[in-house]
Amino acid sequence: MVITNFGSLNIDNVYSVENFVSPGETITCLDLNRYCGGKGLNQSIALSRSGASVRHAGCIGANGAILKDMLKQNNVDVSMLLEIDGDSGHTVIQVDKTGQNNIIVYSGANRRLTKQYIDDVLDVALHGEILLLQNEINLGDYIVKTAKQKGMVIAFNPSPVDDFLLNDFPLDMVDIFIINEIEAAALTGITASERAASELLKRFPASKIALTLGENGAVYYDAADRYQQKSYVVPVVDTTAAGDTFTGYFLTGFSAGKPIPECLRTGCLAASLTVSSKGAATSIPMMSDVTAMSLQV
Ligand code: RIB
Repeated sequence: MVITNFGSLNIDNVYSVENFVSPGETITCLDLNRYCGGKGLNQSIALSRSGASVRHAGCIGANGAILKDMLKQNNVDVSMLLEIDGDSGHTVIQVDKTGQNNIIVYSGANRRLTKQYIDDVLDVALHGEILLLQNEINLGDYIVKTAKQKGMVIAFNPSPVDDFLLNDFPLDMVDIFIINEIEAAALTGITASERAASELLKRFPASKIALTLGENGAVYYDAADRYQQKSYVVPVVDTTAAGDTFTGYFLTGFSAGKPIPECLRTGCLAASLTVSSKGAATSIPMMSDVTAMSLQV
């Protein structure tokens, strides 16, 4: 089965700082690195490195060859990737001395998808296949409605949360939410994560919810079951792409019909490896590294 991932591709400009810059303050950074990133690209790489067949759909600009090459090197099918004039998406990311980050996204090409392009991509996708989506590209509502009409299974990582997501996105068509605490709170207005997940399930009772809890691991809910997985303690260097890694690894296991506790465990192991090295896509581990770690913990 091929997983179609409609998602962003960004050039990440990562500034290492002692502490995040405050309003009105000027600071000098300790280091600057450029990486391939974007929640979409990161998740395609995590899917591929964990063993899934993945087709990436999205849009790059004139400076986006590096993003396409990164996907190709990771065995992601880029035959449907759209290349246009203008700039690719990019980000400004601060990473502080504790490894936490904050991110500003310039969408660029990521928000220039057209309905015709989406139709062309979904023409080659099959009934029953998984459609993965985040919220860094335009026309997400059209993608979900069209994919659902085709009988695809919708996996949604509602990141980042914005007004479009809260007001116009067809959340009721989502089959699997892969969500973090901030997103769960934004969607439900409930800050206690587990209660927020229960509320989501109450609203969308046919859906499945994988909720990441940072250093507290992850939980999974559906109408019948609840499973919990602890996180693995590692030195935190850079948390960028930890959620993307979890999403890719969890979904690969899920799509292969693996038991949910195993999907959660693999997702948490992989995410812990991601936070222990710098960068976005480059920090996503290979399945062999995840397997090796699983034998040690
Ligand atoms: O989830 C991490 C990603 O978010 C970064 O790679 C950045 O590009 C933003 O999209």
